[in-house]
Amino acid sequence: MSKGLIVYFSQGGTTARVTEYIATGLRTAEYRVDLCNMKDECPPNLDGYDLLGIGSPAYYYRPPFNVMDYVNSLPDLNGLPAFVFVLHGTYRGDAGNTIRHTLASKGGREVGYFHCRGADYALIYLKAGHLFSPDHPTAEELAQAEAFGREVAAHVAGKPYIRPRDDHPPSMVYRLERFLTSRWVVRQIYSRLFRVDAKTCTACGLCVEVCPVGNIAADKDGRPIWGRNCLGCLTCEMRCPQEAITTPANWPVSRLFTAYNVCQASRDSSLDHVRVIHRHGRTQRV
Ligand SMILES: Cc1cc2nc3c(=O)[nH]c(=O)nc-3n(C[C@H](O)[C@H](O)[C@H](O)COP(=O)(O)O)c2cc1C
Ligand code: SF4
Ligand code: SF4
Repeated sequence: MSKGLIVYFSQGGTTARVTEYIATGLRTAEYRVDLCNMKDECPPNLDGYDLLGIGSPAYYYRPPFNVMDYVNSLPDLNGLPAFVFVLHGTYRGDAGNTIRHTLASKGGREVGYFHCRGADYALIYLKAGHLFSPDHPTAEELAQAEAFGREVAAHVAGKPYIRPRDDHPPSMVYRLERFLTSRWVVRQIYSRLFRVDAKTCTACGLCVEVCPVGNIAADKDGRPIWGRNCLGCLTCEMRCPQEAITTPANWPVSRLFTAYNVCQASRDSSLDHVRVIHRHGRTQRV
């Protein structure tokens, strides 16, 4: 029996759901499949695997830093069949391109590329009252993910593969946003500017618990202290029940870009969209 490994990152759960369906498709094609969510565990080494899948959300029109750290750390793949899938709430930009090119540069042999929408819990949009792609992935997208798994197995078995074209790169404004959320900027500037309001923080520890990369420690009073290994996911601020955390996402310049993005996305008839209120760590539809 062939053995596949799917390494993915899922903070909100949508990439995880798609991963399960792709794995089901592979299993119907007689694969044994191991799954690894980078949020919870370190990926195993590739010895003994005949197929590698990488799943990622789009974060700021590219893959999150931890996904690229993993892909960059891979050894020479020496022709190992590999596939990529990307979840995105609005516009995925270069997220798929970047992972696919890096896998190819490592000697991976592409046997599939899949993307679909996932509910977009980016805090900047929630705070502005918008949830894009609210009910995605849909049942139809999940069925497509399962079919994709079967198709990948067929390509590994020898069915000819026509590589899908690269996605369109993001527009100038989105490229600027990507630059403003680049690793250097996040590490050197934003990471130093996360703040907690000592009067409202109850030291509940939730922010420490939900950080997907262990970037938050608790001080002697149980309040958060941020390190520099931040993804910019804003989950700590989003989930705080006391609204005690403020980050650079609240700066006027961030709100300007958010307003532009919301305007573009809400005019796009191909995107689903509902109005929400985000308060005390919870998002409610209105
Ligand atoms: C910090 C952050 C940045 C995001 N940036 C983008 C983006 O640039 N383009 C996009 O289409 N979706 C973006 N999204 C939406 C996610 O890609 C989408 O919701 C995805 O389904 C999340 O995957 P998960 O539920 O597995 O975490 C972003 C979400 C977050 C939290
Ligand atoms: S989640 Fe909020 S209240 Fe809880 S420890 Fe973190 S900052 Fe304090
Ligand atoms: S934004 Fe907060 S939760 Fe996300 S990686 Fe950075 S410190 Fe962790």
